[in-house]
Amino acid sequence: MDTIGILGAGAMGSGIAQVAAAAGHNVIICDNLTIALAKAGKGIQSSLKMLVDKGRMTDSDAYSLNSRIKFTDHMSEFRKCSLVIEAIVEEVEQKQIAFKSMEAIVDVGTILASNTSSLSISAMGAYLRHPERLLGVHFFNPAPLMRLVEIIPALQTDQDVLDRARNIVEGWGKTVVLAKDTPGFIVNRVARPYYGEALRIYEEGIADFATIDWAMRDMAGFRMGPFELMDFIGNDVNYSVTEIVFENFYYDPRYRPSFTQKRLVDAHFFGKKTKRGFYDYREGAVMPEPTKNEDLGRTIVSRILAMLINEAADVCYLKVASRDDIDMAMTQGVNYPQGLLAWADKIGIEKIVEKMDALHDEYLEDRYRCCPMLRKMMREGRTFY
Ligand SMILES: NC(=O)c1ccc[n+]([C@@H]2O[C@H](COP(=O)([O-])OP(=O)(O)OC[C@H]3O[C@@H](n4cnc5c(N)ncnc54)[C@H](O)[C@@H]3O)[C@@H](O)[C@H]2O)c1
Repeated sequence: MDTIGILGAGAMGSGIAQVAAAAGHNVIICDNLTIALAKAGKGIQSSLKMLVDKGRMTDSDAYSLNSRIKFTDHMSEFRKCSLVIEAIVEEVEQKQIAFKSMEAIVDVGTILASNTSSLSISAMGAYLRHPERLLGVHFFNPAPLMRLVEIIPALQTDQDVLDRARNIVEGWGKTVVLAKDTPGFIVNRVARPYYGEALRIYEEGIADFATIDWAMRDMAGFRMGPFELMDFIGNDVNYSVTEIVFENFYYDPRYRPSFTQKRLVDAHFFGKKTKRGFYDYREGAVMPEPTKNEDLGRTIVSRILAMLINEAADVCYLKVASRDDIDMAMTQGVNYPQGLLAWADKIGIEKIVEKMDALHDEYLEDRYRCCPMLRKMMREGRTFY
């Protein structure tokens, strides 16, 4: 079986290494920090131990999986790899440098992939001699558990490279969706209003964190409310993705980050990992109770849901991804209770258009512009499915 290279032994790199090794590949994981390599080794071992304890893997399978992963701080070990996935810091210059060094080492047929959440894949290929071999292969955290992988061809990517990468990742048991090389691809773009509109509703004093979370969880059926989810992801990570998406969309007000979350980041109130975020997780702290008012809950749900559906419709309208891939991405990548476009059909396209127009009339902000495709579908009486 082919050898897979992983650059960056952090949360994502070690998770992807485990996925590839579980599929039978030999894996070489490289990081320039030996401490990161040691941490990744321990992390993979404890993840395998958990699988063994739960009876999902035998001891000997865990042992052989682990022995297929080699740790190194020398990129030269990538020489024999057929695919190298980069999962280093989210900075385009760092990734460009890394890919350029990689290209000098690997075979001409080696596929190079980036696990970036939001940066331009085309920009990463700009300094390569063979940019046609580079593409985005975006896993979700934790990679061994999350089934979705977004594959993003750059402007320069060869169709054959795309097909080969897709085959490899599908062979690892993952569900692949295709996205155009645009900021946030599918999931990290379509999910922005889940956080952004919730923050806006809070900032306007319409409801508190606990009430918004209650409405989105208990009334709309999301696994976690927006604030508990931001605290879980980490406000530092979540804020930074919003900021990158906002900047890369030329400061479109739809994606504008919020001061409320920025101040939490400033104060290092990152969420669960620092025991303070939107909520207080310190010992003895009491969780606030939501105001379980159904009318208020409906107002919150209809506003956030309309914004989510509007964003999903825009992604479809602007051909960033197909209808099926958008719905698949949101249900499998972030566990949404339904695909947003299927949900739009159930609610009624005209209801979504009405809600968006009402918000636009109220605020006179471009943030609330309705996707032209929704308006056209309403006129023509069409649905997504
Ligand atoms: N964490 C997530 O939820 C998540 C999800 C999907 C995608 N991503 C993306 O995956 C990538 C990695 O994220 P992460 O959370 O694993 O980061 P991380 O900070 O946990 O790990 C990054 C690792 O890369 C190493 N590194 C940095 N520069 C390097 C270089 N030049 N050569 C070798 N090693 C280098 C660091 O030492 C570190 O161990 C980022 O692009 C991120 O946007 C993250």
